[in-house]
Amino acid sequence: MKSFRVLVLLLSFVTDVSGTVNDTPQQVVTKYNNYKTICTGLGYKATHCNGEQTKVIGFQSSLKGDLVNLKTRETVIFNQASLNRGSAYNTTTGKFTAPADGVYSFSWTTMSDAEKCFITEIVLNSSPMACNFTDGRGRTKNAGNVMSSSNVIIEMRTGDKVWIRTHHNYGQFARCGDGQWCIFSGFKL
Ligand SMILES: *[C@@H]1O[C@H](CO)[C@@H](O)[C@H](O)[C@H]1NC(C)=O
Ligand SMILES: *[C@@H]1O[C@H](CO)[C@@H](O)[C@H](O)[C@H]1NC(C)=O
Repeated sequence: MKSFRVLVLLLSFVTDVSGTVNDTPQQVVTKYNNYKTICTGLGYKATHCNGEQTKVIGFQSSLKGDLVNLKTRETVIFNQASLNRGSAYNTTTGKFTAPADGVYSFSWTTMSDAEKCFITEIVLNSSPMACNFTDGRGRTKNAGNVMSSSNVIIEMRTGDKVWIRTHHNYGQFARCGDGQWCIFSGFKL
């Protein structure tokens, strides 16, 4: 069997290396190259040190302030980020741009008041992927706040954009305080 022959060859190289301590630098390089050829032939891939090949992409943003009577399909801009590895989320535009092809997960949360609503949807290049219904319209005054969250896991291509916007014109009121009540986060799997 081919793989068995390679293994025997590999073992003979090991014996060869461990048996000699007086190799010249050139011999060491030759042996290294031989090992590399064998390992590559076995299907191993060369990797980089320090986790260079695993680039983390993830952000955690929040919205500071209150939002009143947003327009139809207006972007909800989560204007501050406590984490933005890969710099894919923009706190000025509220948009996340995929830096690489892959599968991404996003979550968002908003809070509104009794008698008010703040209904939003997450869109991928303007196509709605999921909605959330933060609706306090059936509640009486002083009945407390309403808060809701949703999550999507979607396939994205490099350059695709994801953001949160109002569902129709139901962006009546969002109470976000310093950001603790309105959150948008995401990461690449
Ligand atoms: C965010 O978007 C704005 C407007 O397009 C742009 O001027 C700015 O450079 C972007 N910021 C980052 C960090 O990419
Ligand atoms: C909105 O979020 C709440 C709380 O997570 C959830 O129960 C509800 O199903 C969501 N609504 C929509 C329309 O996604």
